[in-house]
Amino acid sequence: MTQHEAIGQSDSVSKLHLHVVADYAEVSRLAADVVSRVVQDYPDAAITLPTGETPRGMYEELARRIREGILDFSGVQLFCLDEYLGKGIDDAASLTAWLSETFLQPARLDPAQVHFVPSQAADPVSAAAAYEQEIERHGGLKLAVVGLGRNGHVGFNEPGSAVDSRTRIIDLTEESRNQNASYYDGEETIPGQAMTMGLGTILDADLVVLIVSGAAKADILLATLEGPLTPDVPGSFLRTIGSRLIAIVDQEAAAKLS
Ligand code: PGA
Repeated sequence: MTQHEAIGQSDSVSKLHLHVVADYAEVSRLAADVVSRVVQDYPDAAITLPTGETPRGMYEELARRIREGILDFSGVQLFCLDEYLGKGIDDAASLTAWLSETFLQPARLDPAQVHFVPSQAADPVSAAAAYEQEIERHGGLKLAVVGLGRNGHVGFNEPGSAVDSRTRIIDLTEESRNQNASYYDGEETIPGQAMTMGLGTILDADLVVLIVSGAAKADILLATLEGPLTPDVPGSFLRTIGSRLIAIVDQEAAAKLS
């Protein structure tokens, strides 16, 4: 039995796997190891990977492994996690353009194997439902790697998001817009709405990997892993999947955990 099967088939009352590692470099390496393992076991897996500051190191490591021929990503069906409403890969300040620059290009991946969030569709509501069906058509998500927003959001599932929410349009909080504006040195205006995979979409994945780094995330990581299960902290719902959740966090982020 592979490690992935052992984790994916355990019951929901079992505990999440928490890995507290020394630093950001270790978070990145371990996250890349889990992605590599899933892709080696399931070369045509449907997976979703996040944007943000946290996954940069993971992408660097994955791209290196792909370029060096250690990891074959050519069969993977990569589903984007979220995108600003109305934005797409051609907009410099879009999450898809960020993913392209940070991972697709360095890894020399074919954009044809990437499923973009239909954030520019004329009818975004039915396009969001079709996106869910597309995931299903590819056998469901084998893996979802997610970061944690300072307000507890996962993807763009902002506070108030339901545990069973699906891909949809969501209003962004001021906090998230400010956080993301910092990715562009404050020079871009972040739209007020986004389209995101829902918490239910993410939690349906066979395996969910949460990556968190740095002292600024210590309070929200504590609320996420030890506080009440509540839509006020969407990340807390990750615990509902028991040992299908692997949390990879560094010592600074873990500082307040019991
Ligand atoms: P960050 O964002 O990695 O830039 O901290 C995480 C998130 O908002 O999901």
